Amino acid sequence: MKAIVAVDLNWGIGCGDSLLERIPEDMAFFKQMTLGKIVVMGRGTFESLPGRQPLKDRINIVLSRNRYFNHNGMIICHSVNELSDELKKYPADDVFVIGGESVYTQLLPYCTEVYVTKIENRYRADKYFVNLDKEQTWEMVFKSAPKNYNNVQYSFERYVNVKRCNEISFGSL
Ligand SMILES: NC(=O)c1ccc[n+]([C@@H]2O[C@H](COP(=O)([O-])OP(=O)(O)OC[C@H]3O[C@@H](n4cnc5c(N)ncnc54)[C@H](OP(=O)(O)O)[C@@H]3O)[C@@H](O)[C@H]2O)c1
Repeated sequence: MKAIVAVDLNWGIGCGDSLLERIPEDMAFFKQMTLGKIVVMGRGTFESLPGRQPLKDRINIVLSRNRYFNHNGMIICHSVNELSDELKKYPADDVFVIGGESVYTQLLPYCTEVYVTKIENRYRADKYFVNLDKEQTWEMVFKSAPKNYNNVQYSFERYVNVKRCNEISFGSL
């Protein structure tokens, strides 16, 4: 299982139900990475998708504790244990955790890799990703050349979980 996220210099990821920045190349990268794959998100992130519709050409899994929450084209899991059972159906490498804060935090220990778009700004934020630079378990193994969109500097980075703790299969939780 992998995670994909865009963060600012404080590892902020959002404010209210909005992203901090919209960078076309980042959106394209997200699409390229997740197309044909399985995306796992919290109900909060689902609510912020354009038109509250599932992401096209992907298997969409939403975590919600609300037993009445339902939506066409979505698989709903009501707990991390239920998610773990559902994910046994798919190759772990094809599963992407796509947010938000609460779901990233809970599932990060089971991820082998994180694709981070690092935006070189500091925004007002109230949702954060774990600062991987402060975690011994995580190591940056790739950083792209600096990029620029509308005077916003950013780069694509890849972190790997050096302990590979999710080799204890997520399904065995
Ligand atoms: N920068 C990025 O790459 C990125 C990506 C995605 C999202 N975001 C940002 O992240 C923010 C949203 O994050 P968030 O933490 O507020 O919301 P979230 O993680 O997307 O969703 C939280 C909801 O997920 C459900 N949930 C969480 N853990 C669960 C569990 N163990 N079992 C069952 N259901 C569970 C609950 O839904 P119920 O209330 O229905 O029970 C909970 O209220 C927004 O600002 C968004 O823009 C940023």
